[in-house]
Amino acid sequence: MSSFIPIQLWQIPPTTITQSVSLPPLIQNLEQQLSQIAQQHKKVVLANSLAVEDMVLTHAIAQLQLPIEIIVLDTGKLHTEALSYLDIVKKHYDHLTFAVYQPLPQSLQDFETTHDFLDIYQSLSVRKACCFARKIEPLQRALAHKTAWITGQRREQSPTRQQLPQREWDTAHNLEKFNPLADWTHEQVWAYIHAHSIPIHPLYHHGMPSIGCEPCTKPIRQGEDLRAGRWWWESQDSKECGLHANPTSSLS
Ligand code: ADX
Ligand code: SF4
Repeated sequence: MSSFIPIQLWQIPPTTITQSVSLPPLIQNLEQQLSQIAQQHKKVVLANSLAVEDMVLTHAIAQLQLPIEIIVLDTGKLHTEALSYLDIVKKHYDHLTFAVYQPLPQSLQDFETTHDFLDIYQSLSVRKACCFARKIEPLQRALAHKTAWITGQRREQSPTRQQLPQREWDTAHNLEKFNPLADWTHEQVWAYIHAHSIPIHPLYHHGMPSIGCEPCTKPIRQGEDLRAGRWWWESQDSKECGLHANPTSSLS
């Protein structure tokens, strides 16, 4: 007789996690960083992928009423749930400015004439060409004429982010880049989300702790690496879309 062992998908940390995390010093430090960034830069944006990290930053910016625009890269390959959630976020933070960037039709046409989309699963260069057309070029447009940008990256997220500074010079885009949550843990992020009752991307309820484009994201099991569901067919070291994979120098 064969025994069936149900797969336990990753689950959102319970709200009780707030009891084991000391949020006030974290919040104070975060708010100080964001206020300073807004003081030093008139043309600064937050890149929001709709992940919980980016929602922590969005919430803090809203609380402080800082003049920081929120940019979202709609790759055209996001889950339909992401687009409905974006509408919820826009309504929830209706005093913030959201700018949505999409790929250029010409870039998509060029990709399609040269590649078969399904080859992203076989070829790293085809996958990167897709990320270039759908994420990197739109980000370049979003950052043109800006003097700084903010991301929700954390050191814990990946071997490629272990040295991530809170403040760095982005040589690829030629502007300052801030990663205010660089040293935050997964638990701290979720404690902030629960403590402020921030609406979350619905796919967190479906075993996805890290969410990107639909063809390149899958649910993971409890206990797996939190980015195991992103570009799961690739090795750990190549799991970057290129938004952040540029040589940068720490300023702090
Ligand atoms: S990725 O390089 O693997 O795609 P990840 O999903 O971890 O990046 O997100 C890291 C940070 O990059 C996010 O916190 C956010 O600042 C930015 N980012 C990633 N994807 C997007 C997106 N679609 N729109 C806006 N910002 C994004
Ligand atoms: Fe294309 Fe996947 Fe990159 Fe999205 S994450 S731009 S679908 S290769």
